[in-house]
Amino acid sequence: MSHDQTPSDKFVFPRWANYLLPVIIVCAAGGGAIAPVVVGLGFSANTLNVGYAPEQPVPYSHALHVGELGLDCRYCHTTVEDASFAAIPPTQTCMNCHSAIRSDSPRLEALFKSNETGEPVEWVKVHDLPDYAYFNHSAHVNKGVSCVSCHGRVDKMTVVQQVKPLSMGWCLDCHRAPEKHLRPLDKVTDLAWEPTLMEGETLENAQLRIGREQKKKLLINDEAYMTSCSTCHR
Ligand code: HEC
Ligand code: HEC
Ligand code: HEC
Ligand code: HEC
Ligand code: HEC
Repeated sequence: MSHDQTPSDKFVFPRWANYLLPVIIVCAAGGGAIAPVVVGLGFSANTLNVGYAPEQPVPYSHALHVGELGLDCRYCHTTVEDASFAAIPPTQTCMNCHSAIRSDSPRLEALFKSNETGEPVEWVKVHDLPDYAYFNHSAHVNKGVSCVSCHGRVDKMTVVQQVKPLSMGWCLDCHRAPEKHLRPLDKVTDLAWEPTLMEGETLENAQLRIGREQKKKLLINDEAYMTSCSTCHR
């Protein structure tokens, strides 16, 4: 995770990427205009880790807690609106309920042990960008990009699974045309939300109408900025 690094140590590529340095320098000089060319060359692999769904120490289910019980993402992932990272909840958040609910369940053994010892549950990270790419949750969540655009229907997952490649090409697809994804800010954690159709309108056109409105209202940066190397490699 690259969350707590200072800006100066973020733009570090793996050694094997060194042969690309001349391209990088040309691109940095040319700015956003050249970015589509670079991506056109097939820079990024695009199936990175899709389908990855590691087993967790406690069989926690989003389908049950979000889909059925109706908990909001921010009840547990408390930092998404304020920080670059999305905090995984501490044991105490679970104990708010599980000190009484299913307090003898063997499936909760690792949770209860954590509660006794004070050692956190060792959750296995599902999504993981390389450190040289900078990502920030609050920058997206506060601009009307829903969790569903990047994580899929987590509210239907018994086990969290990575559904998007998280490749550079994938990031850029949206950065070039964010209106395909933007929604009202109060719907960001409502994964089932769909735009209300006007008469005769298709779903796609309704999304574009609302997305363009939001883009204007929230003063979303232009394409040159959104695709410039230093936006994500800083
Ligand atoms: C009751 C607490 C709780 C709620 C509510 C909750 N989550 Fe989670 N979430 C967790 C826990 C615990 C984990 C770590 C274990 C796991 O991956 O299943 C997690 C993991 C995740 C991950 C994977 C993190 C990684 O390692 O890459 C994503 C993505 C995620 N949650 C999204 C959401 C979204 C979107 C919502 C709302 C629709 C939501 N969560 C609501 C507790 C919660
Ligand atoms: C708002 C209350 C609430 C919170 C907070 C909560 N749970 Fe639950 N949890 C429930 C309820 C209700 C059930 C279903 C109990 C049943 O089926 O009888 C449940 C069931 C479970 C089960 C299945 C237990 C079994 O015996 O099958 C697991 C595992 C679980 N929760 C883990 C967690 C973890 C881990 C957290 C914290 C990240 C958490 N829960 C937070 C209310 C909560
Ligand atoms: C624009 C895409 C995008 C959106 C929107 C988004 N995420 Fe993420 N999420 C990511 C990426 C990329 C990572 C991996 C970050 C890393 O490894 O540095 C991630 C990681 C996570 C993690 C693991 C902890 C972390 O920060 O690495 C959780 C939990 C999570 N997201 C929950 C959420 C929730 C809840 C929402 C909605 C409120 C949300 N995400 C919205 C792309 C997104
Ligand atoms: C579904 C659309 C979408 C996806 C996917 C997406 N982004 Fe974004 N991103 C946005 C929007 C919208 C903004 C807000 C731009 C603004 O504030 O003007 C943003 C802002 C950012 C910012 C902050 C820019 C700034 O300086 O304010 C960074 C950094 C960023 N994105 C990185 C990434 C990375 C890295 C990925 C891929 C792992 C990614 N994004 C995937 C839509 C997306
Ligand atoms: C919207 C965010 C974003 C922008 C803008 C961006 N990148 Fe990336 N870049 C990423 C992400 C995310 C990765 C990591 C993908 C992965 O896991 O392989 C990456 C990976 C790379 C890599 C490593 C090799 C590879 O393909 O995985 C290089 C080199 C690179 N970027 C160069 C650039 C250059 C040059 C520019 C400007 C033309 C640029 N990037 C603009 C997000 C971005």
